Order: sequence, then C-alpha cells, then structure tokens
Amino acid sequence: MSSRRAKITALGTYVPPRILTNQDLEKMVDTTNEWILERTGIRERHLVDKGVAASDLAVEAVRNLVKSHPMDLQEIDLIVVGTVTPDMMYPSTACLVQHKLGIHRTWGFDVSAGCSGFLYSLNTAAEFIESGRYKKVLAIGADVNSSMTDFTDRAVCIIFGDGAGAVLLEPAEEGEDYGIIDIEAQIEGVGGQSLYMPGGGSLHPASHETVDQKMHYIHQDGQQVFKYAVKKMSEMTERVLQKNGLTGKDVDCFIAHQANKRIILATAERLKMPLEKVVINIERYGNTTAGTIPLAMQTAVDEGKLKKGNLVLLAAVGAGFTSGATLLRWAF
Ligand code: UT7
Repeated sequence: MSSRRAKITALGTYVPPRILTNQDLEKMVDTTNEWILERTGIRERHLVDKGVAASDLAVEAVRNLVKSHPMDLQEIDLIVVGTVTPDMMYPSTACLVQHKLGIHRTWGFDVSAGCSGFLYSLNTAAEFIESGRYKKVLAIGADVNSSMTDFTDRAVCIIFGDGAGAVLLEPAEEGEDYGIIDIEAQIEGVGGQSLYMPGGGSLHPASHETVDQKMHYIHQDGQQVFKYAVKKMSEMTERVLQKNGLTGKDVDCFIAHQANKRIILATAERLKMPLEKVVINIERYGNTTAGTIPLAMQTAVDEGKLKKGNLVLLAAVGAGFTSGATLLRWAF
C-alpha cells in the first residue's frame, strides 16, 4: 500500500423538487421575507414530500454523479454518509444507500457531525484512499431537516432545507498535486446545549411525553451558534492556511457551510477573501446541513468559479460543536 493524495474526481447533488419560499413562511409563522433575507440571506428552500428520506436524497445525488461521470458503481469500495437525519436509528443510511444502489462488494457507515457532516465524511473517506487501502470511495452528505423542524418555531423553520451531495474520491496519480492537501477539525461538546434534538435517543426514548414536549425537533440557541460559527470558521480556516504557508489571497475558491450568509461573509472578511472567490447559494437552498458544501461545490462549478487546478478552502461548523476546514486542489 502506498500513500497518495485523495482527489475528488466527480460530484453529484440533489434537492427535492418542492420549494418553500419566504412568502410561504409568512403565511405559516410571524415573519417577513425582508427579515429572513436580511438576517440569513435565504429566499427559498427545498423540502421533501412525505415518505422521502435521507437515503433517497443520497441515492439521487449518487445517480447524478454517475450521469456526469459514468462509472461502474460496483467498483465502490466504501460509502461514508454524513447525516443527522438518518432514515431511522439503524440500519445506517450507508447500508440503505448501498442496498438501493445495488452496490455489492462494499462497506460503509454514517458520520454524525451536524452541519460539518459532509466535511467529516470527506475527511474520513480521504483517509482510506491516502492509506492506499482503497481506490474508489463515496463521501456523501444528506439531510432531511424538515423531518425535525418545528414549523411553528420562526427562529428555526426559516433556516433549514433538505438536500444532498456526493463526491467520488480516488487516489491522485504519482506526482500529481490534485486532491486533499490538509485538514483541521475539532469537536467541543460544550456546544451540545446550543443545537440539538433531545428526543428519540437512548436518553429520552420516544414517548407521548417527548412528543408533547417537542423533543423530536431542532432546539437551537441561534445567537450562540452564530457567534461560535463566526469565531470557529475563521480559526479553522486560518489554522489550515497557516500550516501550509498560505493566506486567504492564495485560495481560488472558498466554500463554506451555508448556515447564514452573514457567517460566510464575516469569515471571508477575516480571511481578506475577495467576494468573487466566495461561493454563496444559501438563497436557493437554505441550510441543508450535510448537503450544503457539495451543493455549493456544484454551484461553483456551474458558475465557473471552480475549475481544475484551483486551490479550494472548505469550512464548516455544526452541532456538537463540530468544526473543520479542508484545503484541496480541485481535480476536474
Ligand atoms: O449550521 C448550524 C445551524 N444553525 C446556525 O448556523 C444558526 C446560526 N444563527 C443564526 O443564523 C441566527 O442567529 C438566526 C437566523 C437563527 C436568528 O437571527 P438573529 O439575528 O440572531 O436574531 P435573534 O435571535 O437575535 O432575534 C432577533 C429578533 C428577536 O426579537 P426581539 O426579541 O428582538 O423582539 C426574535 O424574536 O428577531 C426575532 N425573530 C424573528 N423575527 C422575524 C427571530 N426569528 C424571526 C423570524 N422573523 N423568523
């Protein structure tokens, strides 16, 4: 086994067709389109219909990946799925995705890291390529946030959407500098009370009481999460750049988790990153948790902001708290 960089060689994304606009939300809770746009940057988000789960979004994302990059899925060695809205407690979403896609000789597992879910699944998947053990690994981020959103809570329901994305990781060729260069990541469980879903786990198994107390919904202290996200996204990105003797000016494309436009802009400002290098698509999708980074990669590719050879900086902060930044050179 020889060590190689892990490079992203294909990308596929999916959002369900149904759209919920800010105007729709105005009819559901005490809010306005202007407030949502100004405080978050979101205009609309996509939501699943009843019966559609995280594995379904993940499967569609992989199918779209294969459309843009024809390949035999039987060659997939490993499937890593970042999600906090698995179809069910178990089996894992990775098992459901494997079964639905009919991929036979593979294994896989889920990664729970909130809004850092895609970044953590990408980093985990990359390790298996870098070790030389595997040649083709799928890293997926998929979340159905509407399944745990209280649509009477105006501070929460305006932010979240549903969506998924998948990337294929393969070893870089000898001497090639495409692929994942470095990662920074950190968990700080002190943030556990700022963003969580208390019900349905082993501490508070589902009961009439947990339903009555709305324990199966997202509980969020928005301001705490906001402050932490701004601080930590800057810290993580600066750290990974410094370690590699780089500054924000060297980066061609900055793709951050899309939680709030103001968090992304504050981080970009601290990194002295010109706006044309910053990818923002939150206005169309809202916060899709583990879906945001691949969806933003797709937007960047479509808008010509992300091209072969570009130095890319990814960053995320999420429930846990979890955070991270990944530096990579785009390979296609
Ligand atoms: O990816 C991790 C997931 N979560 C996040 O990243 C969330 C991070 N936090 C945020 O994005 C922001 O904190 C929110 C968008 C959630 C809230 O924005 P904010 O600017 O921090 O608002 P706030 O919580 O400070 O509330 C300001 C006011 C309050 O009214 P009063 O107390 O000043 O009278 C809220 O009740 O805005 C009110 N408010 C709303 N008004 C209209 C809260 N939500 C709404 C709403 N429409 N939807």
